[in-house]
Amino acid sequence: MAKIGVFDSGYGGLTILDSIRRVLPEYDYLYLGDNARAPYGTHSFEVIYRYTLQAVNFLFEQGCTLVILACNTASAKALRTIQQHDLPRIKDKKVNVLGVIRPTVESVPSITKTGHVGILATPATVSSESYVLELEKIANELRVTQLACPMWVPLIEAGEHNSPGADYFVDKYLRAILDQDPLIDTLVLGCTHYPLLLKKIESFLQNYAITKSQTHRITPISQGSLVASSLAEYLVRHPEYASQLSLNGSCRYLTTENADRFSQSASLFLSAPVFAEHIDL
Ligand code: DGL
Repeated sequence: MAKIGVFDSGYGGLTILDSIRRVLPEYDYLYLGDNARAPYGTHSFEVIYRYTLQAVNFLFEQGCTLVILACNTASAKALRTIQQHDLPRIKDKKVNVLGVIRPTVESVPSITKTGHVGILATPATVSSESYVLELEKIANELRVTQLACPMWVPLIEAGEHNSPGADYFVDKYLRAILDQDPLIDTLVLGCTHYPLLLKKIESFLQNYAITKSQTHRITPISQGSLVASSLAEYLVRHPEYASQLSLNGSCRYLTTENADRFSQSASLFLSAPVFAEHIDL
């Protein structure tokens, strides 16, 4: 029987895993964080693709038939090449890889009222233009502004996201994107790490609305529940995958970094005990 693999460069994918397990608690999961090589968001296409493919192949070898790239950077840079080039070469097993960008984009048109949308993401995701292109396909009347936030992932990977120092960078990037387009009412957190900064983001947005006497409310969009319901629908549409999955409600955590360090941080992020294992890719 097969498991569902959930992959991220580090801790960010835990925000997706958590939501998926709330919606689909019955399945068995294998989480892999490539913490030793995070952040991915400042790497080139070649490096992100190579690292992501290594992780996906590893998860297939461990018995996963479906792998969720719980990482926008990997979804933006590597997903299409893996789907078109690498998956067709796997002959003996039916496997698939799914990303997080499409389910996120699909939620945007029904949330925005001003039609002005902001995308906050890693430098690699922003330069891929994936969000802009995907939004154009489904709602080309929207005005989309993107901003790379290169300091947010390193702060989270270092466990500094609740520190006063993080306020400076939350303030800096949010102010920058809202100055570029003051009519933005929908802010996509286009990196799975960013929900770990959500409290600080919400508190900035509240104060900003007051100081600017804003008439519209700004909604930050986290991806967890969107990806979870999209996976649930996928499994209904693809019973050939659903019927292969084992149903013990378990989750194993793997990291390419130190297992104790991962366990400690992941337990904090998930508010539940995590016992991770170290692996090499
Ligand atoms: N969580 C990844 C994402 O969604 C983080 C990227 C990184 O490692 O820079 O893009």
